[in-house]
Amino acid sequence: MVDLFYAERMDKCSGCGACKEIISCSCLSMDMSDCVGCGACYLACPNMAIHLKPRKDEFEEIKIKVDGEILYVPKKITVKRALEIAGFKFSKFPDNGEFFAPCESGGCYSCAIYVNDKLKPSCITKVAEGMEIKTKIPEDYEPRRLVHGWMGHPVGGVGTPWWIKGKGYVEAAVFSCGCNLRCPQCQNWTTTYNSKVQAYTPLKAAEIMTHFRKYYGVDRMAISGGECTLNRQWLVKYIKELKRLNQDKDARLHIDTNATILTSRYIDELVEAGITDIGPDLKGLYVETFMKITGINDKDLAEKYNKTAWQAFKYLIDNYKGKVFIGVGIPYNKDLITLEEIAKIGDKIRSIDSEVQVCALDYRPEFRRRSISRPSFNEMVDVWKTLKGAGLKTVICQTLYGHIGPDRPAFH
Ligand code: FES
Repeated sequence: MVDLFYAERMDKCSGCGACKEIISCSCLSMDMSDCVGCGACYLACPNMAIHLKPRKDEFEEIKIKVDGEILYVPKKITVKRALEIAGFKFSKFPDNGEFFAPCESGGCYSCAIYVNDKLKPSCITKVAEGMEIKTKIPEDYEPRRLVHGWMGHPVGGVGTPWWIKGKGYVEAAVFSCGCNLRCPQCQNWTTTYNSKVQAYTPLKAAEIMTHFRKYYGVDRMAISGGECTLNRQWLVKYIKELKRLNQDKDARLHIDTNATILTSRYIDELVEAGITDIGPDLKGLYVETFMKITGINDKDLAEKYNKTAWQAFKYLIDNYKGKVFIGVGIPYNKDLITLEEIAKIGDKIRSIDSEVQVCALDYRPEFRRRSISRPSFNEMVDVWKTLKGAGLKTVICQTLYGHIGPDRPAFH
C-alpha cells in the first residue's frame, strides 16, 4: 500500500509568495483541492507553512498505461506514486537498480520517464486519464536538467583557486535545480527548489555557457546548485559538450558538489569528460553533525552520503592531484559544528593531503534556519587557526568581509 498525501497551508503562511514564484504547480494558484501531494511546495516553503497530510478520501480512479499494461490508480497522485503502486521502487542513492529520485522537486530530472512520449519528471507530474507512461528510456535519449542563473562570478566557489578570488569576474557560473540534501540553512534555496525554469539539453546549456564565457571575458566555467551531480547522464554530457565547444588550453571546467553520490567511477567519468576543477564539500565528520547540517533524518542514508563524500575526496587526491584542481569546502557555524570537530576534520584532511586548498564557509541564517547568527570575523579567524593548527597548509575562510588568505588571517 502506497501512502497518499495532500498539501495544506497552515496559519503561519506569511503570504510571501515564494512557493508560487518557484514551484511549477497549478494547484498552488487555486485552493489546493487539486493537490497531488508531490511535496515540492512543502520542501520549498521557507516558513514551513505547508504540511503534507495523509489523503483519506477522494480515491476516484482513472485508467493509465504503464509500459503497455493497464493500471487503475487514484486520480490525484503523481506519476511517481502511480509507478510505486505498480511495484516500481525509488531510491535516494543511485546504482542499486531502482529509479533514482533524489530531489523530489522536479529539478534534477533523474526520475524522468516518458509520459505521452514526452520526458517528464515523475516526482511532480500529475497522472491523467488515458496517460501512457514508458519507464524504459532508450540509451540514446537526450537528457534534460533545469538550470538557470548564468552569471559572471567575482568570487567563484569551493573549487576555485584562492589566488584568483576577488579579482573581477573569475568565472561564468550556472546553477542546477534540485538537491538530495535538505539543509535548513540552504543559501541557494530559490535555485534548489525552483521548478519553473526551463529544462535544457546538455548541448543547449553548454552553448549558453560558452556564450557567457565570452561575455564575461573569463576562462573558467562553473556549475553549482542545487546539486549538479544528481543527473549523471546530463552532467557528463554537458561537460563533454562544453569541452568540445571550448577546446583552447585556457578553458577551465569547474564543478562544485556536495559529493554525496560521487563514486569513484563517476569521478573518472567526469575527468574523462573534461572537468579541470572540482570543489567537494565535507559537511561533517560525525553523522550527527552531517544530519543537523543537511536536514537528512534517515541515519543510514546520512551515513552513506557522508561516507561517499569523504571517499570521493580521498579518491580525487589519490588519483587526480596535480591533474585536476581540488578545493574542499567545510562548514562553520558554532550552532552546527564545534571547533573540536573542525580540528578533527583538519586532522583527517591532513592525513589525506596537507596541501589541498581547504575553504571554511561561514554558514549564515537563511531559508528555514534563521535563529543562528552568521559567524563573526573573529570566529572565522579561530576556525582558520584551528585548521592551520591541524597542519593544513592552504586554508582560506569565507568571512563577513571577504576571504581570509592562506598565509595569514587577514584580507588579501
Ligand atoms: S527526483 Fe524528480 S526531478 Fe529530481
